[in-house]
Amino acid sequence: MRVKDTECVRFLQWGLPRLRLRWPGFRKVRGQVCKRLARRLRELNLMELSAYAAHLDAHPEEWAVLDGLCHITISRFYRDRAVFDYLDEKILPVLAETRGGNVLRCWSAGCASGEEAYTLLLLWTARHAARASGADLRVLATDVDERVLERARKGCYTAGSLRELPPDLLAQGFERAGRLYCVKPALRDKALFQRQDLRTGMPAGPFDLILCRNAAFTYFDEALQREVLRGFYDRLITCGVLVLGRHEALPPGAQGWFAHPHQPGVYEKRG
Ligand SMILES: C[S@@+](CC[C@H](N)C(=O)[O-])C[C@H]1O[C@@H](n2cnc3c(N)ncnc32)[C@H](O)[C@@H]1O
Repeated sequence: MRVKDTECVRFLQWGLPRLRLRWPGFRKVRGQVCKRLARRLRELNLMELSAYAAHLDAHPEEWAVLDGLCHITISRFYRDRAVFDYLDEKILPVLAETRGGNVLRCWSAGCASGEEAYTLLLLWTARHAARASGADLRVLATDVDERVLERARKGCYTAGSLRELPPDLLAQGFERAGRLYCVKPALRDKALFQRQDLRTGMPAGPFDLILCRNAAFTYFDEALQREVLRGFYDRLITCGVLVLGRHEALPPGAQGWFAHPHQPGVYEKRG
């Protein structure tokens, strides 16, 4: 059974706000969600989404299932090359200098299968660690979806996920396992993957760098974005850096942030 696009759009426009999510974020990726909804209808033996809406009303625990159907977990290594080039050239050297010989604490919030967290570690290890006079970098990576976290902990990927990664990073960071590329254990040990829902909790911090790309500021409603942003602000050190996705921006009126003029989506916490 397929769900008609118009029916699916109507359902999502009704259901997403109840999960504190926003329809415009899902417009382009709705195909995935609609397919999952069709599968859920089959499982529940329901004929159409209006019946599923009634089912949700009658079974409040089903909202958590619907929430899971709305997780968009696409990612890849070195996604949006310009931002990682900018981190490499402008952000990591400055943070490393500020931290002296200490550990740089980074948080990948909405980390999917770990591609972003490992990209950061690869960049650091290959290009900065030797010059950083004893400073090291650690990444805490969190996601609401346990299935992607399991993949992240394993750290093995197909070539497609690695297609944007510069060749030197690919050569230094991976071991082949058949058709898979697996992150070397020494690197994997520097990332910690934990399940956490940004709507209900956050790690303690403090952090020098937070990456939250293609997650909260695309899919969450504006009020929730503000709450999440407040949490990031409280957990960043002064002059710490927040990186959003290429097509994302802070909610209107956000204060206490300096937007880096040459790289969209990069913000520094002001005191
Ligand atoms: C599109 S992926 C982005 C991955 C990576 N940040 C990137 O830009 O490539 C969005 C991730 O956010 C996660 N996510 C969605 N809602 C979340 C929530 N409430 N708390 C934590 N993670 C969430 C999803 O499970 C998904 O893995």
